[in-house]
Amino acid sequence: MPQEQKSLVMGVTGASGALFVRRMLQMLEADYRVTKIHLVISGSGLKVLREELALDVSKTAEIPRAVAGGPAPKTCYLLDSDIGASIASGSYPVDGMVVIPCSTGCLAQIAHGISSTLIERAADVCLKEGRKLILAIRDTPFSRIHLQNMLEAHEAGAEIFPIIPAYYHHPKTIEDLATQFCCRVLSHLSLPQEEQFRWSGEAASNHRP
Ligand SMILES: Cc1cc2nc3c(=O)[nH]c(=O)nc-3n(C[C@H](O)[C@H](O)[C@H](O)COP(=O)(O)O)c2cc1C
Repeated sequence: MPQEQKSLVMGVTGASGALFVRRMLQMLEADYRVTKIHLVISGSGLKVLREELALDVSKTAEIPRAVAGGPAPKTCYLLDSDIGASIASGSYPVDGMVVIPCSTGCLAQIAHGISSTLIERAADVCLKEGRKLILAIRDTPFSRIHLQNMLEAHEAGAEIFPIIPAYYHHPKTIEDLATQFCCRVLSHLSLPQEEQFRWSGEAASNHRP
């Protein structure tokens, strides 16, 4: 695959933060460098999405469009129980994976190499193949176990990217906040975004109309 074209895995687990899921999928869909998005959502992930986005889907095929809030032609939806899916094998080429949000339960499984679901297995594959794996963990506060698991996962090669948004770009809406967080994640997947606010040593208010 040419350097510019990327095939990515997006895992969604049952932590709060559906707004970040929607924005991330929209931004991946809109990025001309991204050719394919393998979307996997855990059972708890779907429960939280239903709760936070008032998602009402009965058919699996409707999920990408419903999550993105519009057309999602590059997104291929895979069941978390489908352990035989392409992305469960290291021989299938993908350029990286983001788990957003990543529950503390999923973090624990990944940190300990327990691959009982497709999300966990795909993450394990990224680690063993030396591919980029970003874990956008969401919970508060963190227990000692969570912190230890983050360190384990980090030492195994994952990037710990907790959903802790920035404020120095003076977000006006919650969507602004999510967009800038997703920009940061995407830049770590070698997909820098034009709309990313970059601190230049002066307050954001000096740059904004
Ligand atoms: C509405 C709702 C919000 C939740 N928020 C979080 C959260 O922010 N962080 C977290 O680690 N777990 C959260 N949970 C609990 C997880 O969904 C639960 O631990 C689940 O077993 C995770 O499974 P999964 O990793 O397979 O998605 C939440 C559950 C519900 C129903």
